[in-house]
Amino acid sequence: MLVEIFPDYETLSERAYELVATLIRRKPNCVLGFATGSTPLGLYRRLVEGYRRGELDFSKVVTFNLDEYVGLPPSHPQSYHHFMWENLFQHININPSNVHLPNGMVDDIEAHCDWYEEQIRRVGDIDLQILGIGPNGHLAFNEPGSSLGSRTRIKTLSRATRRANARFFGSEEAVPRHAITMGIGTIMEARRLLLLASGRAKARAVRAMLEGPISAMVPATIVQLHRYAHVLLDKEAASELA
Ligand code: F6R
Repeated sequence: MLVEIFPDYETLSERAYELVATLIRRKPNCVLGFATGSTPLGLYRRLVEGYRRGELDFSKVVTFNLDEYVGLPPSHPQSYHHFMWENLFQHININPSNVHLPNGMVDDIEAHCDWYEEQIRRVGDIDLQILGIGPNGHLAFNEPGSSLGSRTRIKTLSRATRRANARFFGSEEAVPRHAITMGIGTIMEARRLLLLASGRAKARAVRAMLEGPISAMVPATIVQLHRYAHVLLDKEAASELA
């Protein structure tokens, strides 16, 4: 595992951009796994800027997002569909048919999850998966206690996660109770992982992820077992490391 520590969020985001941009240039039809949340926003802004400067071509890039809330239509301002189009996809030349997110509105969630996994296999697996980490150590919506071998499925959000995400919904009550999420086993099959963490609120989870024993109670600890995991931290997220 490679861990890099940066003075601040902007330099961390710049490094994430360099890594993703290099992959897109080297492999124009690469498969990228995207995350939502605040942390990758600096990266997404830079990807848009890189596209506008003519440095990046997304026409052949294929994407898969980690997760989506159950019960929110794609048009809902807090859906992850909306987040991705708003912050990235609508600003670049991505082919909409190459964009994949779980659909939180389907009737048969189990069949949909199997279909999602099948789509990832069909394109030959994810080349680079961008990840954030929850303050409770969750990875995607794999909350503490999730099976380390899990596949894409429906998960109940923990109280801690609903509290952390209440800032986007106005209240904890308004945060959906379930999400469809790639499993930990699914994430671990990506060829490379790029995990970003910024800010003091992540420091304990980051310490557990990097220095703690591997445990389903801190799902992010699984990255210790990935052959090509690259972790980018800012000083604050790294502040509890030994
Ligand atoms: C989002 C996701 C989550 C976030 C995590 C950190 O797709 O999978 O696991 O990465 O909750 O969120 P932020 O970046 O908002 O702190």
